[in-house]
Amino acid sequence: MLLDVIPTYTRISVNHISSCTVIIVDVLRSSSCIITAIANGANSVIPASDPGAAASLALRLGMKECILAGERDALKLPDFKLGNSPAEYSRENVKDNTIIMSTTNGTPAIGSANNARRVLIGGMINRSAVAKKALEFEDDVLIVCAGTQGRISADDICAAGAIAEAMYEHSKAPLKTTDITQICRLVYLDWKAGRADLSVTEHYSRLSSLGFDEDLKYCFSEDITTVVPVCEGGVIK
Ligand code: MLT
Repeated sequence: MLLDVIPTYTRISVNHISSCTVIIVDVLRSSSCIITAIANGANSVIPASDPGAAASLALRLGMKECILAGERDALKLPDFKLGNSPAEYSRENVKDNTIIMSTTNGTPAIGSANNARRVLIGGMINRSAVAKKALEFEDDVLIVCAGTQGRISADDICAAGAIAEAMYEHSKAPLKTTDITQICRLVYLDWKAGRADLSVTEHYSRLSSLGFDEDLKYCFSEDITTVVPVCEGGVIK
């Protein structure tokens, strides 16, 4: 089994993914929100490419049945009920609801993996569970990082490394890996040992400057849930 990482979804190639289990990682913050929403009883999360597409879909499905969620420039969109802070995806807010979500990089990253054999949503908060789930299928695994507007984002690299490390921990057979997978693993292991400071990196520091420190702490908490959302036919459950 090959374990590879694509550092930003904009570099995805259709041939590459059609035979793979893809794990989408936008650790800050949309994959952490989606995992939290499903863990808290949301019926489903439907990723939309942009806010207009999200609003049209909500009209089609019936506004009362859906919750519009997402961000631009990290801030909640006007007229949307939820932003992109995991704390907003509480049981009280999401249970039994369909969430239509549009974020800058996370939801387009999910859309880019449409042709994958299967798509799982991963983060730090479910790193062991998503690694074990991906191993079950015995196909090659491709971790697709959302990145930040086409650029590599260190937070996603670290979370991809955390998932790769969990796959090492749980795989019964030897894993073949690419150098980018090992780079991600090394970043994660350095972060875990307190040697890699993500607070100097672009997206992390921007969220901190906007006052989202609680989100940063939560999104970088390891293994707080065993929930692994799966995206099928454009719907995450
Ligand atoms: C994204 O999709 O770009 C992020 O989730 C942005 C954010 O942290 O709000």
